[in-house]
Amino acid sequence: MAGLTKRFDQFVAVDDLNLDIARGEFISLLGPSGCGKTTTLRMIGGFEDPSEGAIYLEGKDITYDPPYRRDVNTVFQSYALFPHLSVKENIAFGLKRKGVEKKEMEARVGRLAEMVGLSGLVNRKPRELSGGQQQRVALARALVNQPKVLLLDEPLSALDVKLRKQMQLELKKIQREVGVTFVFVTHDQEEAMTMSDRVAVMSQGRLEQVGSPEVVYDSPATEFVAGFLGAANLLRGKVIESVGDRWIVELAGGEKVATKPSAKGLADNLTFGIRPEKIQLVPESAVRDGGSNWVAGTVINAVFFGVASQFVINLADGTEVSVYQQNSSRSQSFSQGERVGVVWDPEASFSL
Ligand SMILES: Nc1ncnc2c1ncn2[C@@H]1O[C@H](COP(=O)(O)OP(=O)(O)OP(=O)(O)O)[C@@H](O)[C@H]1O
Ligand SMILES: [Mg+2]
Repeated sequence: MAGLTKRFDQFVAVDDLNLDIARGEFISLLGPSGCGKTTTLRMIGGFEDPSEGAIYLEGKDITYDPPYRRDVNTVFQSYALFPHLSVKENIAFGLKRKGVEKKEMEARVGRLAEMVGLSGLVNRKPRELSGGQQQRVALARALVNQPKVLLLDEPLSALDVKLRKQMQLELKKIQREVGVTFVFVTHDQEEAMTMSDRVAVMSQGRLEQVGSPEVVYDSPATEFVAGFLGAANLLRGKVIESVGDRWIVELAGGEKVATKPSAKGLADNLTFGIRPEKIQLVPESAVRDGGSNWVAGTVINAVFFGVASQFVINLADGTEVSVYQQNSSRSQSFSQGERVGVVWDPEASFSL
């Protein structure tokens, strides 16, 4: 996609999207409600004309091709199966219209039904299937004519949590088997991270960051990405020195800590972040380890919830830091009012 833009009157729903998707890739468009995910998908599918920009498929400009002329299929949130047709007939529908020969058609439908785990149910009607099974029929129907790209718009959102998790793994497995490029829309960050090769994070029509799940989580490029992909503590300070591949930053409370450099380049003030699970709490009197950052604080909230505990620490400059500790036989507990050392590895932080 190059410069892809969609305006509804004055409102810019999709704003200058530039994104190259590799063949066979599983990429997610991730972002909050209204950020332009569906509109982007509809332009790729040919259901919506862009206001500006172009879409290419294997180098060919398909921007204004009608949907049926593109090698692209869509699975919508409401799977829209034909109620009066059996599972087999639903899957075969597109092939029949294309006039594929009967034997070939049966072979392909059988293979797809098996792949999505519906072999035993091919003669049932949609109403005789569970939500997850209906979803699989929709998937098989969209894959049976071997599109180059499959677009999926929140296809799992109607399923309960357990089934949804199971379908996430299955969908990923099926995608690997068929090798089709999947563009998957979701507003669920965990879902995007579990399934995708790359995640494209969107906000207000714009692409905030594109990268592997590890990169967007561990090294978010913007404050929005940092916050959308999970809890993040953001700290602010003055850059006072650059030493090797570290910057030394002075916090408002006077403590000096080391951070990774910001991709934006050297500036006087820096915002940097640390995920709550990457911080350790130690008693204030504990021996300091030279390589780690160490900042003193006071516990203002401690919540125990079985497998983990969450603490909120107040630093000298008034910043509140959230810390998430897995509970093990070795983990220490801290109570409200206690003075602690807040410790983290500079490598575990990210700079904005
Ligand atoms: N046909 C339309 N006319 C006017 N505005 C529209 C139209 N379609 C979408 N929009 C607006 O464009 C923005 C993006 O909509 P879109 O459906 O792409 O969001 P989304 O990211 O898919 O959200 P959700 O997660 O809620 O499905 C929204 O503010 C929406 O109101
Ligand atoms: Mg949508």
